Amino acid sequence: MRIDFYGHACVGVQGSKKVLIDPYLSGNPAASLTPEQAEADYLLITHGHGDHLGDAVEIAKRTGAQVVAMVELANWLGKQGVEAMGMNLGGSYTFADGFKVKLVPAWHSSHLPDGTAVGLPVGFIFWLDGLCFYHAGDTALFSDMREVIAPHGLDWAFLPIGDFYTMGPDDALTAAKWLNAKNYLPIHYNTFPLLQQDPQQFKQQLEAACPATCHILQPGEHTEI
Ligand code: NI
Ligand code: MN
Repeated sequence: MRIDFYGHACVGVQGSKKVLIDPYLSGNPAASLTPEQAEADYLLITHGHGDHLGDAVEIAKRTGAQVVAMVELANWLGKQGVEAMGMNLGGSYTFADGFKVKLVPAWHSSHLPDGTAVGLPVGFIFWLDGLCFYHAGDTALFSDMREVIAPHGLDWAFLPIGDFYTMGPDDALTAAKWLNAKNYLPIHYNTFPLLQQDPQQFKQQLEAACPATCHILQPGEHTEI
């Protein structure tokens, strides 16, 4: 298996299936991939903000990927010609091929670039080839990370550290202590000047505080797992 970081909050997990989350590619100054190059069997969209929904419509139409999103966002995608599976918080679903996904809370907002409200933002827990992954989406720190999310037994957690719109590094460090994942990938930083952070400092603090590995990937880099 491998984990690819494509910039901002866009992460790919490739095993027996290809999972792509939040494909903000065109318009992203840090993107390492074009929408035309993106591959996905499953496309998970955490919320409607442009830096997450991104090129989802185009990629879904071209690849035929199964899209999963909050029900209101899924309904909007349907009007764009993309058949998405609309779920809601706390719900999980296992597909016939064994891929399982669960929607979990994220403390944030969710509207389209034109202001249309598209339900609540979410994070995703998903299971692929026996490993458990958590993509936090855009979120503030919240204590249900410890009570509701950590008990799933996370192998990987993708956490925003950019601050301003989401958790910054200090709150993400607290999140890591609560989530108790084996591996972390910081995301949602350094895309824009407002989100400038030092991921090496975050890695040092996290690995000093938690029995875990923090992987830092530049856009376009991947790690084999
Ligand atoms: Ni957002
Ligand atoms: Mn964002």
